[in-house]
Amino acid sequence: MPNFFTEADSVNAVNARVGADINPRLREVMTSLVRHLHAFVKDVHLTQQEWEMAIDFLTRTGQICSAERQEFILLSDTLGVSMLVDAINHRRPLGATENTVLGPFHVAGAPQREMGSCISFDGKGESCLFEGRVTDLHGNPVKDARLDVWSDNAEGFYDVQQPGIQPKWNNRGVFTTGVDGRYSFVGIKPVSYPIPHDGPVGRMLEALGRHPYRPAHMHFIVTAPGFEKVVTHTFVGDDAYITSDAVFGVKETLVAPFERVDDGRTIWRSPFDFILTPDGE
Ligand code: BEZ
Ligand code: FE
Repeated sequence: MPNFFTEADSVNAVNARVGADINPRLREVMTSLVRHLHAFVKDVHLTQQEWEMAIDFLTRTGQICSAERQEFILLSDTLGVSMLVDAINHRRPLGATENTVLGPFHVAGAPQREMGSCISFDGKGESCLFEGRVTDLHGNPVKDARLDVWSDNAEGFYDVQQPGIQPKWNNRGVFTTGVDGRYSFVGIKPVSYPIPHDGPVGRMLEALGRHPYRPAHMHFIVTAPGFEKVVTHTFVGDDAYITSDAVFGVKETLVAPFERVDDGRTIWRSPFDFILTPDGE
């Protein structure tokens, strides 16, 4: 009997067409995708109208994408898929600094700055000293660790969202540790902000009764020879959105102290150590 498509045998009808000589990983991923997709359609008994809405949603999601706007990643972020992929692929020993989402506002090539220098150039916000150590799992300092840092400004916008309004490289910089593994720089105490929500993902969040906000955070990419790259943020713990991040990026170990110091140099101080795992573990 030819393998005609039926509701009951739908998965088999599709997966049986897969060629014998294809890439085995592609076979595993695609046949599983078809299995789960068909199970989902059957589970919710998807209506024709709902299917059309889904196609329209995906079409609009694609149409709004550009070099500066990646709506599919936002969709993945807001459905928790980005964090899940990250979690599965970056399981680390207890004590090691955890990863979180990269986000769309990282810009490669930020200027290298002197340790201790200020990265905030728009004169807005409450100054904050970020400092700590980069170490291995045993507490030994890591030399030549590169910290690429970025945050929003006091109004909740990254420099790249406001070209011509904010100074170039506002609240961004790269710092490299010496033999003591220490880092320090002055930025601002970050503020919470909404992810881009003027597109289909924003409409989806609205329809689901969800807000688009991320709790205040400072982004870090920490790399060092011989160690696994860490893509992470530190979070302001008393932020109103700390337990409802629109992209599920908060981890308990990434909530950093923000101590009010008012010491004549900065208003705040946020100490945080980065603990790296050896490459390839
Ligand atoms: C961010 O933190 O920059 C970010 C992360 C995910 C989606 C949007 C923004
Ligand atoms: Fe961010």
